[in-house]
This record gives sequence, C-alpha cells and structure tokens, in this order.
Amino acid sequence: MALVAVLIWANFLLLMTAIHVECIGVNWGTQATANLHPSMVVQMLKDNNINKIKLFDSDHWTVKYFGETGIEVMLGIPNDQLSKFTHYDNVKDWVKHNVSSQLHDGVEIRYVAVGNEPFLKNYNGSFAQTIFPALKNVQKALNEAGFGDKIKATIPQNADVYDSSSAGPSQGNFRADIRDLMIQIVNFLKDNNAPFLVNIYPFLSLYQNPDFPVEFAFFDGGAKPVQDNNIQYTNMFDANLDTLVWSLRKAGAPNIPIIVGEIGWPTDGNIHGNIKMAQQFYNGFFKKMASKKGTPLYPGHIETYLFSLTDENQKSIAPGNFERHWGLFRYDGQPKFAMDFSGQGSNKMPVGAKNVQYLASKWCVYNAGAKNMDLIPAKIQYACERSDCTSLIYGGSCNGLSMQGNISYAFNMYFQMNNQDVEACDFQGLGKIVQQNPSTSECLFQVAIQSTGSRLRDGIGGMSFLVALLISLALY
Ligand SMILES: *[C@@H]1O[C@H](CO)[C@@H](O)[C@H](O)[C@H]1NC(C)=O
Ligand SMILES: *[C@@H]1O[C@H](CO)[C@@H](O)[C@H](O)[C@H]1NC(C)=O
Ligand SMILES: *[C@@H]1O[C@H](CO)[C@@H](O)[C@H](O)[C@H]1NC(C)=O
Repeated sequence: MALVAVLIWANFLLLMTAIHVECIGVNWGTQATANLHPSMVVQMLKDNNINKIKLFDSDHWTVKYFGETGIEVMLGIPNDQLSKFTHYDNVKDWVKHNVSSQLHDGVEIRYVAVGNEPFLKNYNGSFAQTIFPALKNVQKALNEAGFGDKIKATIPQNADVYDSSSAGPSQGNFRADIRDLMIQIVNFLKDNNAPFLVNIYPFLSLYQNPDFPVEFAFFDGGAKPVQDNNIQYTNMFDANLDTLVWSLRKAGAPNIPIIVGEIGWPTDGNIHGNIKMAQQFYNGFFKKMASKKGTPLYPGHIETYLFSLTDENQKSIAPGNFERHWGLFRYDGQPKFAMDFSGQGSNKMPVGAKNVQYLASKWCVYNAGAKNMDLIPAKIQYACERSDCTSLIYGGSCNGLSMQGNISYAFNMYFQMNNQDVEACDFQGLGKIVQQNPSTSECLFQVAIQSTGSRLRDGIGGMSFLVALLISLALY
C-alpha cells in the first residue's frame, strides 16, 4: 500500500516536472552543403526536450520522419512557390500530397507557414500580389479537406512589417506601404482563429544601428528604459512585441494569438555575434519564457521557435557574415555552448546529434614549400567565394589566425565543401592534404559530414552516383 502511494506520488512529481518544462520549438533550415538526416534531428530534439519544429518547406521525405514522434511540425511554403499557390488546384494537390498523407503517417501538424518574410524591403514587393491569395487558398484547402479546425495557415513576418517608434510601442503601426494589405491579412487570420507569426531579432537591431544600446538587446536590465505612458520597457523584445500588439489593435484584431516564429543570436561572423553574447541572450530569454510573464501587453505564455537548430553554410550573406552561424548546434549537430532550454538556469551542454558520419580525417592546408606565391590572393578569393570564410573576418572565431592559417582555412573550407575531392585541394600546387588537425582552440577547421538530408542521396541520387562511379571506372 505504502509502495503504491510512493509510486503514485513519484508519478505525480514526474507529471509536475513535465508540465513545468517550457515547450520550446526550433527552426530547422537546410541551406547547407550537407545536412543531418531527419532521424538524427528527431533524436536530437527528443534528447533536448524540444517538442516543436518549424520547417521551411514541406518535403515529404523529411516530414515523414517526424511521424509518431510526439514532435509537432510546422510546415513551410517557400516564397518561390507562392505564385503556384495562387491556383487553387495546385493547393488542393499540395494538401493531398504534403499534408493528408503525413497526417495519416502520424505527423502532428498544427500550422502551415505560407511564404517567409514576404514583405522584406529587399524583396521590393515581389510577393505582394501572391502572398494573400496563397494564404487564403491554403486555409480553404485545409478546411475543405477537413483539417481546418486543427491546422491553421499563417505567414511568418519579419518585424519590419511594423514601424517601431522611439516614442514607444503605442506609436507603432503597420508599415504605410503595406498597411492596407496587412489589415486584410490580419483580419483573415482573426476570422480563421489563426495566429500572427513574427520573427524578432534584437541582434539585428544592434547590428543595423551603431547607436542601439547593447544592454537593451538582452534581458538583464541596465539600458535606459523606454517609457510609454505608464509602461516602462527594459528590453527590445518586450518593446518590439508590444509594438506588434499596438499595430494589431489599430488593425482591428487586438486579440489574435502571437507566435514568435524565429528568435535567436548568432555565434560567429560579427563582433557582436559570438558565443558569449549568444549565451547571455539565451540565458535571459529562456528564463523569461519559463516565467510565463510574457510582455506588458501580451502577458502569459508565448509560443516560440528558436532560430536555429544548426548552422547553414550556404545561406546568403547579403544580410551579414553572421547569417551562416545562427545554429544552437554546429554544422555537424554538435553543441556550441551550455544552456538550459527549461529556463531554470542550470546550464549544461545540450545533447548533440548521434552517429554523425564524417568524411575522412583529412584537411587541406597551405603548402608552405610552394613556389607561385603571387597566385595566393586569387586562390583565396576563389576558395572563399565558393565555400564559407565568414569565420575569418573581423570579429569571427578564426580572425586570430596567422597569414598561413588564413590561407589554409580558406583552402580547407573549399576542400571540405567539395566532399574532399583531391582536385579541390590543388590550387596549382599551393594546397596539400594533411592528416593532422590544424584547428586551434578558437578556430575549428571542419571535416565535412556525409550529406543525408536530401532525398536524392537516399534513392535515385545514390543510384546515379553509383552509375557515375561505374562509368568512370569503366573509362579508366
Ligand atoms: C511537397 O512534397 C514534394 C515531394 O516530397 C516536394 O517536392 C515539394 O517541394 C513539397 N512541397 C513543398 C511546398 O515543400
Ligand atoms: C530591388 O530593387 C533594387 C533597386 O532597384 C535592386 O538592386 C534589387 O536587385 C531588387 N531586388 C529584388 C529581389 O528584386
Ligand atoms: C586573415 O584574414 C582576415 C580576413 O581577410 C584578415 O582580417 C586578417 O588580417 C588576416 N590575418 C593575417 C595575419 O593576414
């Protein structure tokens, strides 16, 4: 009897801790030369108690691995497919092939993210005509298929869809050039009980504005507060989210739920993008999320998706060199720094990806004995333009290398991103392959991982690779 009581009590305690753990989500972008296998990602999420994932497409092969895992999946529709999604027949097909069969396989889908930050100023309004029709079509097709109550379509918006004012959140509103459209979209979301998805980046405010008070980007106080009537704002996240609340109020949709679709801090490629600041940001953010206090105007729990799971070495660096370093984990799924997703402040290294298959322990470095030194600048440029040298620049983790180290770093990146192809380490005699790891305590010289994150590698692609190999052997 006593034992039973103890067991019940233990169960109760377990239940309590389970309830207490903050439900956090994470984005998984795959713009990299090699991606982790989705089954590895599933295991990583489970090992770290992350139970939601946001994808940037809805590729069947990837999505199916999340079936029966208890991990909720947000599907994505890339911007370049929006015009296709203005035709209802295409959308019906998409629901059939990319939603219905996945649900049947036990994938828990709750949201569909239509487009991605379609109103970014750099896009010059390219998606202004297609985004709203696409959104409406997706929700309609979901409704018609009988999923409308369970699955909601929404649009991930950059926080630049509303203007912030130094006079405080109450002065904010949707950007004048898209305001009419935003009002229609927001009211559509309201009518469908769908949430507003917003990406908030205190780091970018700091990066874009040299006068931005550094402390305001974090959650530790210390910055001059922004006073808005009787509310005092001590951090950028609260001020920004409440600017959205004001914008929604002005658009006639004051009560629609808000989800933070992306938030995070990069760890490399910029003077403010480093592990120390990322850790400070996440420490404060996780604590804030665990407190469930929300913001002054949006109190309570806020559903959140961190950006991002892993680094992506093929992302455009037009926004900045930090762009390839948003990962909580490195390119190979290994942790970068200690953290506590549950916000209890007991930081420990997160659990990395297991059974990662690396290519051979080989690196390409500068061949110090080489003659044609005058070719070096051109070769570095060639290697860097075709690989990723964003850690080399000022503020980057590899900025302290010697000149020879610089050359080696560039050569190695190119070599690894070309799957250690011997020819990719030639550089007209300036490169050589070595077995000794040239990494320093600050600067990692990568070894590429075997790409499994693509459907092509698994099936047809693997086959044609074999065929190509056979053909080349035959020719030989
Ligand atoms: C739907 O799935 C197919 C097959 O995997 C894929 O080619 C297509 O890109 C997916 N659609 C979207 C919007 O991701
Ligand atoms: C947007 O316009 C600018 C200036 O006209 C141009 O340089 C840029 O390429 C355009 N971008 C897109 C995505 O069309
Ligand atoms: C290495 O390259 C980086 C980026 O180009 C540069 O800032 C740095 O000064 C270089 N180091 C040496 C010792 O040349």
